Amino acid sequence: MRITPSSDQQRWLGYFHDLGYEELWLGDSARTAAESADDDLESLPPPRTAREDAVGAAEEPSDLEAVAREASGCEACKLSAGRNTVVFGSGDPKAELMLIGEGPGQREDERGLPFVGPAGELLTRILAAIDRSRDEVYITNVVKCRPPRNRDPEPEEVAACRGYLERQIEHIRPRVIVALGRVAAQSLLGTNLALGRLRGEWHSVRGVPTRVTYHPAALLRNSAYRAPTWEDMQCVRDRLAEPI
Ligand code: URA
Repeated sequence: MRITPSSDQQRWLGYFHDLGYEELWLGDSARTAAESADDDLESLPPPRTAREDAVGAAEEPSDLEAVAREASGCEACKLSAGRNTVVFGSGDPKAELMLIGEGPGQREDERGLPFVGPAGELLTRILAAIDRSRDEVYITNVVKCRPPRNRDPEPEEVAACRGYLERQIEHIRPRVIVALGRVAAQSLLGTNLALGRLRGEWHSVRGVPTRVTYHPAALLRNSAYRAPTWEDMQCVRDRLAEPI
């Protein structure tokens, strides 16, 4: 069945298109509900799939879009001078699982999407290993603009972006956050402790259970990090499997 989107929905469909979605799917139950409710997507019965959630989000524009719009013109730190694109984040705005990396690299800066280079491909495989697809989770970084030559973001740059990240967490309200790598972990947890000291236990970021693991780029450089990363991700999977 073809549904003619309202102007609000069209705006949101454009937003999802910019995030890389080629199509948004309604499952069978959604189609039935939409037919019987005269295309009223708000009447969809739970539970909803992630893709249906994406369509549901088109019905209820979240303030996340407003935060993204604000970030797109941000000049709060010097990283803005060298960027092509603000890489705000991608995935399901209602995701249970949020993954936070360090900052965009060259490919991310070109495409405006996080984790689309080789580290991103590995991240996709890591997610598949816990039965999650990229469009079921939300992926972002502690800084939204590419640091020159992929250097670590400086504390002032992390601080300038902090508000965006906090608002993303508030709007998405994930059940679990995964900090990918030392920079993300230290920035999120406000500590200088080494990654090895931060792994292996649950932390809390704005009340959300948070696990620290290796950055996928580190796994590409050193396969010894694979087994501990797998352990971390199994903990994440188990936590998400717990009843709410
Ligand atoms: N590394 C990151 O930390 N984030 C990206 O988006 C890409 C690579």
